[in-house]
This record gives sequence, structure tokens and C-alpha cells, in this order.
Amino acid sequence: MGRHALVVGGTRGIGAAVSRALAASGRDLVVTFASDEESATRIGEDIRRSSGRTVHTLRADVADLASVGLIEEFLAKDDISLDAVVIVAGVTSRQAFGSIQTDDWNAVLTANVTFPVMLLQAIADRIQAGGAVVLTGSSMGIHPHSVSLAYGVTKAAVHALAGNLVKVFAPRGIRVNAIAPGFVETDWHATKTEEHRRSIEGKIALGRFADPDEIAAAYLMAVDNPYLNGAVIPIDGGYSYR
Ligand SMILES: NC(=O)c1ccc[n+]([C@@H]2O[C@H](COP(=O)([O-])OP(=O)(O)OC[C@H]3O[C@@H](n4cnc5c(N)ncnc54)[C@H](OP(=O)(O)O)[C@@H]3O)[C@@H](O)[C@H]2O)c1
Repeated sequence: MGRHALVVGGTRGIGAAVSRALAASGRDLVVTFASDEESATRIGEDIRRSSGRTVHTLRADVADLASVGLIEEFLAKDDISLDAVVIVAGVTSRQAFGSIQTDDWNAVLTANVTFPVMLLQAIADRIQAGGAVVLTGSSMGIHPHSVSLAYGVTKAAVHALAGNLVKVFAPRGIRVNAIAPGFVETDWHATKTEEHRRSIEGKIALGRFADPDEIAAAYLMAVDNPYLNGAVIPIDGGYSYR
């Protein structure tokens, strides 16, 4: 049976690095994105060229639960069976506690927590025994954050989800883990001022943001290590140790 990975949100940032690492490990890919078709096409071509693997790209916004059906149909069309499902995409809301509205709160909850649950429910029968699911948490789900309440709370829920899903997937021989990245050099931080970046770097023992490839190595380990199950792996350069 060929090895095939689904990477949800795999065309930029951390997800693109994960897609590259999974293809380099000998897997064909189905990679989803939200809206940036140009980046998706470019990364798909790059990976095909460098790894020789098959790469399908699919638009599927995790903010919209209808995307679950799109991914399910895409996999069914080619009867794809997966040995790895990696959910990287996530969203935030910068609304503070005093101003957040129900719609903002629900949008973050839907994308970060409800979508992974509904997607995994829909495609569970396509994940091979011996396969792995990797979710994306955050160090903000471990260390309380002053700005993005919905983000921190939903990422903590993702960490809890990894453990709870072990109970669901263990009988199928499928492992579930979560990666909790610290601050990673991606477009996510494009609007931060230099001063803000320095202040964050001051809290990281290694004194710098991570390269996405450093984070992707942890995802690959979570996919491939046959004894890792129910873990939340912080990879944050020693955030808050300073
Ligand atoms: N960057 C960090 O410092 C950091 C730290 C801790 C945790 N994280 C988590 O890591 C994940 C990825 O972060 P990143 O910085 O690499 O993100 P990113 O640059 O925003 O996006 C990476 C990928 O996710 C896709 N994506 C974004 N929003 C989506 C949506 N609503 N539906 C479907 N796909 C979507 C993007 O597609 P498009 O190109 O079409 O937008 C792209 O393929 C998120 O869950 C984030 O919470 C990031």
C-alpha cells in the first residue's frame, strides 16, 4: 500500500515545511489551502520537482465546515487511503476579552477545534492502521496570552483533543499527537513591529523565532515514531524559561 498524507493548511508557513518533509519521506500528498492559490500551485510544483511525489492541492477553508465534505469527496474520488493526517491550519481573533463578539469567538472555535473533529470523523475510515494524526496546538495554549483569548483557549482545547482522540483511534491502530509550536518565522507575524518581535525574542531562551523546517521536523517525528501517542510536544526554543 502506498504512503499518502493529507496536510490541511500545507501550502505556506509551517504547513508548507511539513508538506516538504512528508514528501521527502516518500509520501504522496493531498495539500489544502484557504485562498492563496498562487502559493499553493508554486509549492505543489516545487515539491513534485524536488521529491518526485504526487501532490494534489485543494482549496478548503477550515472556517467553513462545508470544507469537510470537499476534502472527503476529494479523497473518495481517487479512493485515497492515508497513513498520515496532519492538520496545520488555524485562525485567530485579535479581539480582547472586553470586545470579543459571539461570532468572532465561534469562528475561532469552529476553525481550530470543530473542524478537526468533524474532518477526522468524516475520513476516519480512510486512515490506515499504523497511521498517525497530528494536530496543531500552540505555546499560547500552554501559557496564557494577554491578547487572543479565543486563540489560547482553542489551542488548549486542541491539546486536550489529542489525548481524547487517542481513546477513539487506539482500537484502529492509529496514533494521535499534537505539536505546540512557539513563535515561528511565518507570515503570521508579518505585521509585528520590530519592538514587539524583540520583546518576544527576549522571552525565548534561544533568543529567536523558529525556522518552519525546525518545526516540521517535530511533525515528521510525530508521524513516524511508532511509540508516540497522546503527546503534546512543545517546540518553542525555551519560551518563558528566560
Ligand atoms: N507561526 C507561528 O508562530 C505559530 C505558532 C504557534 C502555532 N501556530 C499554528 O500553526 C498553524 C500554521 O501557522 P502558520 O503561521 O504557518 O500559518 P499561515 O501562514 O497562516 O498559513 C499556513 C497554511 O494554512 C492555510 N490556512 C490559513 N488559514 C486557513 C483557513 N482558514 N482554512 C484553511 N487553510 C488555512 C494557509 O492557506 P492560504 O495560503 O490559502 O492562506 C497555508 O497553507 C496555525 O494553526 C497556527 O495557529 C503558528
